Amino acid sequence: MTDPQRQPRTAEWDADTYHRVATPHVAWGQPVLARLPLRGTETVLDAGCGSGRLTAELLERLPEGRVIAVDASANMLREAEANLAPRFGDRVSFRRADLQTLTLPEPVDAVFSTATFHWVLDHPRLFRHLHAALKPGGWLVAQCGGGPNLAAFLGRVGRLMASPPYAPHFAGWPGPWEFSDAETAAERLRAAGFVDVETAVVPAPTTMPDRGAYRDFLTSVILGAHLARLPDEETRSAFVDTLTDEAAADEPPFHLDYWRLNLMGRRPAAGDPIDGGLPPPPGGNGS
Ligand SMILES: C[S@@+](CC[C@H](N)C(=O)[O-])C[C@H]1O[C@@H](n2cnc3c(N)ncnc32)[C@H](O)[C@@H]1O
Repeated sequence: MTDPQRQPRTAEWDADTYHRVATPHVAWGQPVLARLPLRGTETVLDAGCGSGRLTAELLERLPEGRVIAVDASANMLREAEANLAPRFGDRVSFRRADLQTLTLPEPVDAVFSTATFHWVLDHPRLFRHLHAALKPGGWLVAQCGGGPNLAAFLGRVGRLMASPPYAPHFAGWPGPWEFSDAETAAERLRAAGFVDVETAVVPAPTTMPDRGAYRDFLTSVILGAHLARLPDEETRSAFVDTLTDEAAADEPPFHLDYWRLNLMGRRPAAGDPIDGGLPPPPGGNGS
């Protein structure tokens, strides 16, 4: 039975603020995009496109190609459409869907995703759906939070959540994220059918320039699901203010201990060597 506490985030995003403040996400996402092998004519799924800042860079790498921008959030899709449709016309289409149940009418040449998979709780199911969305031979190239992502920050958040007046609103709540380690992610990708799998957790320490930027970032990027559990604006504001005051006293101030999980895998193509390139073991039957 599904744990009712372990539901995906239902609170809507403040997409306009996200678009403005998610600058670290763009910096993290650019090298991920650079790893995606493209000729420029493909159709690519952006899985969790958000407000579309990286989707725009993906479209620039596809002068004769197309992007299917998928997101579960109506606010994010509206923001993405407003930002992308005037510039890229019908080379980009928008689809509201949960990636855990996504089905596409036609398979795509590649899947790109940044800063999204940790919001998706069932990774085995997610990877099966992305594998099914790909043409044989197509690559998944992605990055999300993973490993010890935000462990120090979340320790502080956890202590605040356990204190009055917040504790009753978080009782028994496991949080909104799945931060996988590299080995588990690789096993899940292989179990979903991917080959040539590579995963790695890398540090991405991030320091916000000032109090306002840090506060906006907590409110509109990190803590949306937490704040949605609090009863009113006054309580939400006090929660973020306390965390901001504590971060102001840190050395350096307003620092976030981000870690990112890089993931790559390919849907096998007919005629691929068995086991994604390795010869069958001596004496083995190759199955
Ligand atoms: C932090 S934003 C990342 C957006 C963009 N890729 C970027 O790097 O800036 C995470 C996005 O994942 C979307 N998302 C979270 N869970 C999802 C799910 N199960 N299915 C589809 N989208 C989801 C959210 O709505 C949100 O737009």
